[in-house]
Amino acid sequence: MTEAKIIDGKAFAADVRGRVKSAVDVLKADHGITPGLAVVLVGEDPASQVYVRNKGKQTLEAGMNSYEFKMPDTVSQEELLAKVAELNEDPAVNGILVQLPLPDHMDDQAVITAIDPDKDVDGFHLVNVGRLSVGATDGLIPCTPLGCLLMLKDHFGGSLSGKRAIVVGRSNIVGKPMFNLLLQESCTVTVAHSRTDDLPGECRRADIVVAAVGRPEMVKGDWIKPGAVVIDVGINRIEKPDGGTRLVGDVEFESAKSVAGAITPVPGGVGPMTIACLLRNTVTACCQQND
Ligand code: GUN
Repeated sequence: MTEAKIIDGKAFAADVRGRVKSAVDVLKADHGITPGLAVVLVGEDPASQVYVRNKGKQTLEAGMNSYEFKMPDTVSQEELLAKVAELNEDPAVNGILVQLPLPDHMDDQAVITAIDPDKDVDGFHLVNVGRLSVGATDGLIPCTPLGCLLMLKDHFGGSLSGKRAIVVGRSNIVGKPMFNLLLQESCTVTVAHSRTDDLPGECRRADIVVAAVGRPEMVKGDWIKPGAVVIDVGINRIEKPDGGTRLVGDVEFESAKSVAGAITPVPGGVGPMTIACLLRNTVTACCQQND
């Protein structure tokens, strides 16, 4: 039996970051513009702190300006909205990201709505959600689904037209935008979720499986059509028999890799692509603002 090709997200992300840096070099040298990304973190969530630190580091490595704003979790929504309004007006800031989740006393959607859609590098603002859903090419696209799409297009040599795809998970951050992107690429797309009847049967029909449900190793190898391409968005920490922990995806990697044609590992698959696409979106936003 042939084993799946393991899609190297780390190498792919490094390549995307390299191309972002080249674009930044041209913006600086030929136009005197340095793109800037502002990240706002409310509270002390350790995982969010790690993400924000990595975003800042990679923004600087790509030659861009990074602005970090840390606010205590006692801050009011009004104070956070005032910060967003200030960043909306700041010409040095081309992209704004407010790290989610926000503390319970805040309304995530109200904060996202306050961000200027042209600076919304997460692609979560309703204007960008709408642009994506009508197939407009000038919107900002959520980073994780964009990363998945770039890897899929690379694997298939550019065109996904006519492929049968399934997205397992219907979140606003991954599942729904992934559906829209695959549909735009002329795939025949099914969106499955926890209430789907015969989820294994639905998956078995698909040439492309994108798993984004947040359930450790839920998608099994015998749910995969031989030769299908499997993109695993899940990042779940589970306990090992020895008491330690390890990271696993939403797909049971060992059983899936002996059936799939190609598969992304966890870690080292989709994960590194998210920040790479955030940097890419920041350059896109900067170019559009200076057009
Ligand atoms: N928290 C976890 N992932 C993300 C993301 O992609 N964007 C934002 N804003 N917050 C997150």
